Amino acid sequence: MTARFDLVIRGGVCLTPAGRVTADVGVRDGRTAAIGDLAQADAAAVFDAAGLHVLPGVIDTQVHFREPGLDHKEDLATGTAAAVAGGVTAIFEMPNTNPGTVDAAALADKLSRAAGRAWCDHAFFVGATGGNAAELAGLERSPGCCGVKIFMGSSTGDLLVADDAGLAAALGCGIRRVAVHAEDESRLKERRGLVSDGAPAAMHPVWRDVETALRATRRLLTIARQTGRRVHVLHITTADEMALLAQHRDIATVEVTPQHLSLSADDCYENLGSLAQMNPPIRAAAQQAALWQAIADGVVDVIGSDHAPHTLAEKQQVYPNTPSGMPGVQTLVPLMLDHVAAGRLTLERFVDLTAHGPARIYNIAGKGRLGVGHDADFTLVDLQAKRTISNEWIRSKCGWTPFDGRDVVGWPLATIVRGRVVMREDELLGEPCGEPVRFQDLLAA
Ligand code: DOR
Repeated sequence: MTARFDLVIRGGVCLTPAGRVTADVGVRDGRTAAIGDLAQADAAAVFDAAGLHVLPGVIDTQVHFREPGLDHKEDLATGTAAAVAGGVTAIFEMPNTNPGTVDAAALADKLSRAAGRAWCDHAFFVGATGGNAAELAGLERSPGCCGVKIFMGSSTGDLLVADDAGLAAALGCGIRRVAVHAEDESRLKERRGLVSDGAPAAMHPVWRDVETALRATRRLLTIARQTGRRVHVLHITTADEMALLAQHRDIATVEVTPQHLSLSADDCYENLGSLAQMNPPIRAAAQQAALWQAIADGVVDVIGSDHAPHTLAEKQQVYPNTPSGMPGVQTLVPLMLDHVAAGRLTLERFVDLTAHGPARIYNIAGKGRLGVGHDADFTLVDLQAKRTISNEWIRSKCGWTPFDGRDVVGWPLATIVRGRVVMREDELLGEPCGEPVRFQDLLAA
């Protein structure tokens, strides 16, 4: 009997667990049903992928979309449109929204707002407040929740767990891996006087210095070990933290961002001013080199964009009143493919950091691997395409990128979410079809 598929992706170089294989991928009912020579199969639709690489869908586990969007910024529709335009098939959204995602009602609200509006699959973090520790164990098990997020240092919004007692209480409640922003609040306060109104944005890494990050990461690892809790330490920026984290691989996983890998304090503040301001800050080239070394050494688990789409008007205020963060969900893939083209990491390591890594550390069900039975989420890329990243290409409401004008080699040509082609050649196709991401540790609940 002839095999029947809803879609056959024909003739691409597939990044499978068995290595790179030139093959057809057959999709049925939103899942990968076969990988091989499907020339004789009956296909309702065919996508010609000759000359392209077919990657397991890129999962961005750190974005700030600001839904419910009581401010005028990004929302789940525009943020996920930007995601699929950039080759991303699933996102995890952070809780420092207004109001914060800190209880069951806020989580349910986000899920209902995503239904029918999100272009990619999605899950939401719940934020620790210092007052809600006792509820976290229940909240983290809600459908569509990817876990708890803790801010140890103040960033955008008012979520904060600054002291060791609060941190121990939050880490002591629940069992899933906790994502943590590690900057030491007391040191941030002590050093705040270094940045008077009108200071140059280049002061940002002086105020929020290496010691600020290192101190928080050290405290976090101590308390994580005491409480027996696994942690995912977000956007690591320093050589010292990487050395420390390498000693705690059993309990701690590590994220870096494309911005920290691609911009350096040696010239970014001069070129971009407060557009380059984020928390933790972009640091000097020597720190960036340590991040690349940690990627090569296998210390880094995940690349996340920390997409924070503040508007140009907000960014034009006087530093340090300018908000921290830059858009990034749409530029993650092209920037990292350009690093692949430059030989800074292999395509296999890119797949490990953007698909296998997220699936492994968050127990994502049915994603993160180009394999039979998995969700048919694919990022199709042209490794040779020469393009220029531009503000015009950006689908975020904010309409800008710190990488405007950057020439890159490598581009996402198509995005497929559970078998539906939602982006092809920079065009969005069909209707938003994103669904909540499922987690293995919640399926039996
Ligand atoms: O620069 C940042 N912006 N870092 C964060 O941790 C938060 C983010 C935001 O939400 O704007």
